[in-house]
Amino acid sequence: MQYTTPKFPVLLHGGDYNPDQWLDRPDILEQDIALMKEAGCNAFSLGIFAWSKLEPEEGVYQLDWLETIIQRLYENGIYTILATPSGARPAWMAQKYPEVLRVERDGRRILFSDRHNHCYSSPIYREKVRGINTALAKRFAHHPGVILWHISNEYGGSCYCPLCQENFRKWLQKKYGTLEALNQAYWSSFWSHTYMDWSQIFPPLDNGEQSIHNLVLDWKRFSTEMTVDFMKAEVEPLKQENPDIPVTTNMMGLYDGLNYYKFKDVCDVISWDNYPLWHSENEETVPARIAMTHDVMRSIHPGRPWILMESSPSATNWQLVCKLRRPGMHMLASMQAVAHGSDSVLYFQWRKGRGSFEKFHGAVVDHYGKSDTRVFRDVASVGQRLKKLTSEICATTYTSPAAMIYDMENRWAIGEMQGLHNGRQGYLEDLMTIYRPFFQNGVNVDMLDMESDFTGYKLVVAPMLYMLRGGIAEKLRRFVENGGTLVATYWSGIVDENDLCFLGGMPGDGMMELCGLRAEEIDALYPGESNTMRLQKPLPGMKTEYTTGDLCDLVHLSTAQALGTYGEDFYAGMPALTVNSFGKGKVYYVAARMGEDFYQDFLGALIGELSLQPFPVALPHKVTLNTRKNPETGVEYYFFQNFNAGSVSLALPKELKDVETGETLSALQMEGYGVRILRSC
Ligand code: GLA
Ligand code: ZN
Repeated sequence: MQYTTPKFPVLLHGGDYNPDQWLDRPDILEQDIALMKEAGCNAFSLGIFAWSKLEPEEGVYQLDWLETIIQRLYENGIYTILATPSGARPAWMAQKYPEVLRVERDGRRILFSDRHNHCYSSPIYREKVRGINTALAKRFAHHPGVILWHISNEYGGSCYCPLCQENFRKWLQKKYGTLEALNQAYWSSFWSHTYMDWSQIFPPLDNGEQSIHNLVLDWKRFSTEMTVDFMKAEVEPLKQENPDIPVTTNMMGLYDGLNYYKFKDVCDVISWDNYPLWHSENEETVPARIAMTHDVMRSIHPGRPWILMESSPSATNWQLVCKLRRPGMHMLASMQAVAHGSDSVLYFQWRKGRGSFEKFHGAVVDHYGKSDTRVFRDVASVGQRLKKLTSEICATTYTSPAAMIYDMENRWAIGEMQGLHNGRQGYLEDLMTIYRPFFQNGVNVDMLDMESDFTGYKLVVAPMLYMLRGGIAEKLRRFVENGGTLVATYWSGIVDENDLCFLGGMPGDGMMELCGLRAEEIDALYPGESNTMRLQKPLPGMKTEYTTGDLCDLVHLSTAQALGTYGEDFYAGMPALTVNSFGKGKVYYVAARMGEDFYQDFLGALIGELSLQPFPVALPHKVTLNTRKNPETGVEYYFFQNFNAGSVSLALPKELKDVETGETLSALQMEGYGVRILRSC
């Protein structure tokens, strides 16, 4: 079994603990331990923003207070996820070495303020980080209570300072070798933008170059690589001291400032911070959106357990409307993460601070300070449940018969391009529309980027595969040849990895042959306009007509067959949905952007044909199912989640056992926002 924290191999429950804000209140710190035990907590992240308490003066490390707390927690059976404090620097550093402060896109260097805004290039910042990390490692890397390193906090953004600009130029030189190659890759003869010297290249500052899309993409690629490199530098002194403590950094789900898939080697464990808008006007789609985000995060290390590093036990103070979680929702939201492979439920934060930006952020312990609150009781019941589940669920794996391609570089490239629907190209929206049928049918899905391995899946869905990179066309070809089913859509195979359009027909790079068609033009419709997809050969369960969305690809078939055609406009009768046999597999091409009604039926048919559900089951609306598996015993665990406020019931096609009560069931009654965990008998 692969444990996220081998030293303490259980489901973790706890969160961010900031005792550094309470060092003058030993009475409160004393109460914390008793309350943590009462809430069934066993792990806390310490020291995330404590640099000014750990190194109050340059080179003067004060770690005794931290040791006292780590030790006291440990003596009480509570383990530490120890942070490196680089997410926010002390004032003395910013004052003495302004170069550690980030230069924003407008070209201005920030003053000492906020957090997450340092320069990743600054040799001084790197040296200071190495200093504090080394001191922490020397003191704590062998402490029996320390189980995981929490590297920095929510890495993000870019710095545009002269040092970063110079590093960018060096990075470009390494990537392209010659200016000629760079100019080719940038198509820079356009608007006379040819670079004649490396020093003429600037990042896409507000007042700088935005029109060379591949330069903008390179800047994003470079920023990701700089951040990974910075993280590697952070990890080095920790691993030197004790290579056995795993490292993680807390990510932000669908955040688009970094390509998180590039962090797969530097992170031993993936973790992320989840702050959904439960009970919002998007109530209908939030559960599937969060499910998909859990899947994105998990799929950086496909199949492996991961850590829910932060979630709010109550309201989230930075959201536009800070709505409370309705009774049941805290349990459901927490268990949803576990259902998707998390081996933890951790919160931001343990105790509400008294002042500043986060004084009203939900926390386990309110300003009131005692345990007789609704939130505390909700948290304690999650603690009890995790404790019960740990022996069966901890370190079980999450394998998926289906995958969707979610690729950050493709997302960036679609975001940059001019054409179709400027300002709202809809890549993420398409992903979510297409994901929802999997959610509604209880099918495990991995969300893979183009550099991933696609072998072993039965179905791969690749929405808007605009930019082809990472050898994706060849991988998909092999996948289909060997019997896989691929669903591709409009606006695929348009540009190569340098954002240069393919010549000789779209979708390029051999995708025309794979899909059995050529896409000639694409029609973007105004809001309120649509076309019709008429199905002459509907798959089982499909209707004969669907309304299209706002993109209609006009394709000519070579070897593919039309299953459906457009109903209106000058392209009425042209193919709108096609299938092509290729090797032992099949490729479907959805030529028009379609809504959820179409995908529920179309993917529903493929889910049935390819037997993608763990067992055939009809789930009520907004009820889903995720499966974890013990790789050693082969036992499967089925997490049924009801995202409706009201109760539901469903028939089970075979007898299953309730993991928590031991009952054998052939039907399932679920209360509003209920979660039931069943296993094979
Ligand atoms: C982020 C940060 C935390 C905290 C929470 C509040 O996730 O990592 O430090 O600020 O937001 O929601
Ligand atoms: Zn910089």
